[in-house]
Amino acid sequence: MSKIDLICGDCLEIMGTLRRESVDLALTDPPYNVGTFLNVEMDDYEDLMLEFMEKVYNLLKPHRKLIFTFSQKYMFWLYDLIKKTNYVFVQTLCHFPRNIASCTSNPLYRTHWQPIFILSKFKPEKLVRIKSISTIDVLEYPTPQSNFRKDKRLFVTQKPLELFERLILENSKEKGLVLDPFIGSGTTAIACLKTNRHCIGIDNNPDAIKLAEERIERLNSAE
Ligand SMILES: C[S@@+](CC[C@H](N)C(=O)[O-])C[C@H]1O[C@@H](n2cnc3c(N)ncnc32)[C@H](O)[C@@H]1O
Repeated sequence: MSKIDLICGDCLEIMGTLRRESVDLALTDPPYNVGTFLNVEMDDYEDLMLEFMEKVYNLLKPHRKLIFTFSQKYMFWLYDLIKKTNYVFVQTLCHFPRNIASCTSNPLYRTHWQPIFILSKFKPEKLVRIKSISTIDVLEYPTPQSNFRKDKRLFVTQKPLELFERLILENSKEKGLVLDPFIGSGTTAIACLKTNRHCIGIDNNPDAIKLAEERIERLNSAE
């Protein structure tokens, strides 16, 4: 059975207390500094992102990955930032949700996809292939909506459960430990329960942690 630990607090502090080289996969969705959870000077954002990546690096076992969703707005800034870390840059995937596009009054194309960054501590392990799933780098999964019966939207930046399940299945083994330092409403934890992985999830918002606990409870009582 999966062991799920949800911790309420600042992930930068909490990660410093966890055992080094104990994590098999870090999968997360950090604040993008575009207003929703964070809106700070880019220098401060750089400090946050560098410290987050460094703390995760210390916790990862060798050859294991840090995978995180990001914004188009700052993705080229991020490529430069990654060069300041010890990670091996592996690749960028495209999450194409099809159902949700940003609204804009500008005469521009509307933002309709998000990058997913994959970094590794040393040379990356191979993907675990899932039969019948293509490994092309565009991953099409709908963003949760309030009118969905399955994967209903409960949290403002909730990620598609099936997207996270798939990333976990392809990049870790059963019973492995998955870390999400910015877990929000607990999508990574639910995906771990469904794929038989252990999970440590951290968030500094008590309401998000409560929502994550409720989602886990609902899943457990449905089984
Ligand atoms: C983009 S959301 C994650 C959403 C999540 N993927 C989901 O499906 O619900 C980012 C989360 O990071 C949290 N957060 C921001 N700064 C943090 C910090 N320093 N430590 C821990 N959590 C933080 C926010 O409270 C927010 O819940």
